[in-house]
Amino acid sequence: MQGKFITFEGIDGSGKSTQLRMVSGELRGRGLDVITTREPGGTPLGRRLREAFLETEETVSPLAELLLFAADRAQHVELLIKPSLAEGRIVISDRYADATFAYQGAGRGFPETTVKQIIELATGGLKPDLTLFFDISVEKALKRMISHDESDNRKKNRMDAETGDFYSSVRDAYLRIAEKEPQRFAVIDANGSVDEIQSKVAAIVTEFLNPQNPHRTKIG
Ligand code: ADP
Ligand code: TYD
Repeated sequence: MQGKFITFEGIDGSGKSTQLRMVSGELRGRGLDVITTREPGGTPLGRRLREAFLETEETVSPLAELLLFAADRAQHVELLIKPSLAEGRIVISDRYADATFAYQGAGRGFPETTVKQIIELATGGLKPDLTLFFDISVEKALKRMISHDESDNRKKNRMDAETGDFYSSVRDAYLRIAEKEPQRFAVIDANGSVDEIQSKVAAIVTEFLNPQNPHRTKIG
């Protein structure tokens, strides 16, 4: 049986990685076969690419950046996501192709048709079954990013230097995709506490994995 492909998206600092860790732990606790991954850097090659083009102070041309995210994704899809889905596993990825539409499309200004062609090529058309978009105000996300940097040893990356305007365009782009694809997207208000958000995430993912459950909670 084909597995399920779930992606978490949001601007930096939206809290999606925290929620991904929590929900995957919960699902594993229920005995489900869950694999968690991320982009960029879900494969050994991807981790080397990530270091080379993201965790660097070197100037990277926007086109090189677009193609490197695509290269990371092609490797990720072919060597990790597709084989795991074929084994019937639940794959949860911290970011996937929507991030390229939002960051390289809206953020960097590449035309949507160009981004779309590159994504098609990199993914072979593989789309997530469910995408959770963690929607947070840019102001709050920037505050969290600063405290995040101070409180742990997460590696800095080039995106951390972007402005509020950049993140506003990225957020708007995500919201437009969510509006266009309401079947795939769940938009979660990510301004609240970790626990508040966690219960929403658990409800949405449980509903998605058990659509037959008569006691299910409403999505959204
Ligand atoms: P992302 O993966 O979206 O960049 P993270 O999950 O890494 O976000 O969270 C960014 C920072 O904000 C971390 O320091 C994390 O502990 C903190 N954080 C996450 N969720 C919340 C929340 N709901 N409220 C306050 N701080 C949070
Ligand atoms: P990461 O530290 O993983 O950020 P976060 O925890 O917020 O997800 O860094 C990934 C960065 O790369 C993040 O700023 C988003 C950006 N990105 C793109 O610009 N395009 C993409 O296609 C992807 C997957 C990520």
